[in-house]
Amino acid sequence: TEQTLVLVKPDGVARGLTGAILARIEAKGYSLVDIRLVEPDRERLEQHYAEHAGKPFYEPLLEFMMSGPSVAIRLAGNRVIEGFRSLAGTTDPTSAAPGTIRGDFGRDWGLAVQQNLVHGSDSVESANRELAIWFD
Ligand code: GTP
Ligand code: MG
Repeated sequence: TEQTLVLVKPDGVARGLTGAILARIEAKGYSLVDIRLVEPDRERLEQHYAEHAGKPFYEPLLEFMMSGPSVAIRLAGNRVIEGFRSLAGTTDPTSAAPGTIRGDFGRDWGLAVQQNLVHGSDSVESANRELAIWFD
């Protein structure tokens, strides 16, 4: 079955929302295959966010992702890549739909980067690439 990489980003961990986010994932019926607390170094984040290198939010994004631990989750299930992104909601937490993780728990804090609580891989190729970066 399909797998995806989910991250509870530093804002989600710091705000104590890991359990609430995991509860939604489990209630949906996806399977936790592996889970770990990670404090990524810059090199790991440069690999993970390679597609965003050079964008205005890239440096603030890396700084934010180094500001505290994230929870990395290897998640499995039929169509889990699309399904988790649906649970997460759209990137901007202000416009993310209520009922989604970002829509219910996130908002715009006026910072240089959107602190939107979670990451989810956006394709099978991304998932395979990102799972190799976060899980050895
Ligand atoms: P991820 O699941 O985290 O990859 O989110 P995404 O796929 O919805 O967004 P994307 O991959 O385009 O961007 C990665 C991360 O960069 C986002 O989750 C935000 O934290 C941040 N980001 C993306 N676009 C913007 C933007 O236009 N402005 C700001 N300030 N931050 C952004
Ligand atoms: Mg993305």
